[in-house]
Amino acid sequence: MSGKIIISPSILAADYGKLAEEITKVVDAGAEYIHIDVMDGHFVPNISIGVPVVASIRKVTSAVFDCHLMISNPIDYIDAFVKAGADLISFHVESNSDINETIKKITSANKKAALVVKPNTPINVVFPYLKDVSMVLIMTVEPGFGGQSFMNDMLPKVTELKQEIERQGLDVDIQVDGGVDSETASLCKKAGANVLVAGSYIFKSEDVKKAIEILKA
Ligand code: DX5
Ligand code: ZN
Repeated sequence: MSGKIIISPSILAADYGKLAEEITKVVDAGAEYIHIDVMDGHFVPNISIGVPVVASIRKVTSAVFDCHLMISNPIDYIDAFVKAGADLISFHVESNSDINETIKKITSANKKAALVVKPNTPINVVFPYLKDVSMVLIMTVEPGFGGQSFMNDMLPKVTELKQEIERQGLDVDIQVDGGVDSETASLCKKAGANVLVAGSYIFKSEDVKKAIEILKA
């Protein structure tokens, strides 16, 4: 993990009617990743977007597509997301899919795999898999909706994960997602996170470039 902070704007907060424009705007403003929230109305109580949208927006940018799968059976959809242009695929440890098998499916397609934990899931669940993944995403809100308040009590999980990654001598990114803004971003970085997802804070801001600079600073 480098010391550099990576910003992954969540397009859940973008205007889907002009998605291409919204993506170009944040990439031009300095975002390295695009965070794509995929929801099935089953794993989480909301439905967002899926494979065809990923394929369409793939033509818009070469930024890293960071696909956050909030779906019950992620293993069944890995091939489709890979084909659509996902670079990094995150799936929940609470899903129904076998963790090792799903990681293997992603990495054998030469894509980066990440594990996600919901707020009530203890972080040590991911420890046995750290050597096999590129990133761990710690949810800082209950998954399903944008615009929720950041859960401060998730910060000790970030620190604990960072310590374990160091203990194992690994290079694994730590991502946080939910309620990240100018204030909570500093707390996340201090705790050890290096990939910040932000939806509302970036897309609802008047000056997107400045918002991204503030998150990185
Ligand atoms: C929530 C999603 C998040 C969400 C973050 O289920 O995983 O990516 O879009 O939105 P904000 O930054 O508005 O909390
Ligand atoms: Zn997300």
